[in-house]
Amino acid sequence: MNSTNELWSDFENHFEEIVADLSLPPSSSGISWSYQRIKEILEYNVPDGKRTRGLTVVSCYDAISNGQSTKAGRKLALTMGWAVEILQAAFLVADDLMDQSELRRGKNCWYRKNGVGYQAVNDCMVLESCVFTLLRKHFRSLPCYADLVDLFHTVLLRTEMGQSLDMATSEQPEVDFSSFTEEKYSAIIQYKTAYYSFYLPIAVAFYLTGITDEECHKKSCDILVKIGSLFQIQDDYLDVYGDPEITGKIGTDIEDNKCSWLIVKAISIASGEQLKILESCYGKKNGESVKKVKEVFGDLNLVFEFKKYENETYQEIKLEIENFDDTRVPQSVFLSLLNKIYKRKK
Ligand code: FPP
Ligand code: MG
Repeated sequence: MNSTNELWSDFENHFEEIVADLSLPPSSSGISWSYQRIKEILEYNVPDGKRTRGLTVVSCYDAISNGQSTKAGRKLALTMGWAVEILQAAFLVADDLMDQSELRRGKNCWYRKNGVGYQAVNDCMVLESCVFTLLRKHFRSLPCYADLVDLFHTVLLRTEMGQSLDMATSEQPEVDFSSFTEEKYSAIIQYKTAYYSFYLPIAVAFYLTGITDEECHKKSCDILVKIGSLFQIQDDYLDVYGDPEITGKIGTDIEDNKCSWLIVKAISIASGEQLKILESCYGKKNGESVKKVKEVFGDLNLVFEFKKYENETYQEIKLEIENFDDTRVPQSVFLSLLNKIYKRKK
């Protein structure tokens, strides 16, 4: 078995223990139904994704400890990987309700399942609490516990702020392209996606391996936010041009009036005539309008523009990684993440 497969199966095998840990009722009591529900929420929403964030925690931990870790230390890294995946599930359950999406990971979104509906609001908070339950239970005695809790709280708030900026533009009753600026777009993607998806997994691995200095965290965060921003730009591209059979989700950005990479780019290169069409059709929840927006996107050659941007940004980030200099952290930690997302289809 190669090391990627080994990592995947170690991670996979640990999930059952996590579920049991979080859903075992203390004794038979009136609340045992809610523990059973936690199990259902976890099993439906957590394990079926790409697991990039959770696996990154463990692979970064392995790369830094370089064969020197104990069995108990490695198990903690696996637990932390699942904590990050549970956080991701909390965000997605909430996001799908807000975006009124249909599919997630090829299945009905949780809120659309029979008998769930608005209970999904409570369920995403339950998932968030599961993260802190795992932290308290398994990491409380470590010297880095305060740093870990603080990090999760900081990243949570940043993600919520990014989501609120994302929602604020999309909830406007009228399309107003003057608010779709590059500055705002860059803030949305950094805050709603990059911190929790790329900085968080690496930062927790740093804490678990004793890397606590601000300088290393800051230098790494700068690179990871750039990788994370590219990742969200790809997500925006795939929202329109991805294959739902592969992505497991159906895009809603055009009808939801999202400040996405494609529309920000389109606004910057469209003719007056094209802008008029976009202004009258963007953010409208009917198939005909969505089709017209996609036609303008096609005329503007946005697929080509995106690929150009993806290639150039990949090269820029690669250069930055090559300049990263800290003997404790191999450059491969960042490079393998960048290569994993480059030209991704899902
Ligand atoms: C997805 O963006 C956005 C996120 C994953 C961030 C969601 C954040 C929240 C819902 C904050 C509040 C939640 C909790 C539980 C505290 P997207 O819609 O572009 O991605 P998609 O294409 O995968 O839907
Ligand atoms: Mg969404």
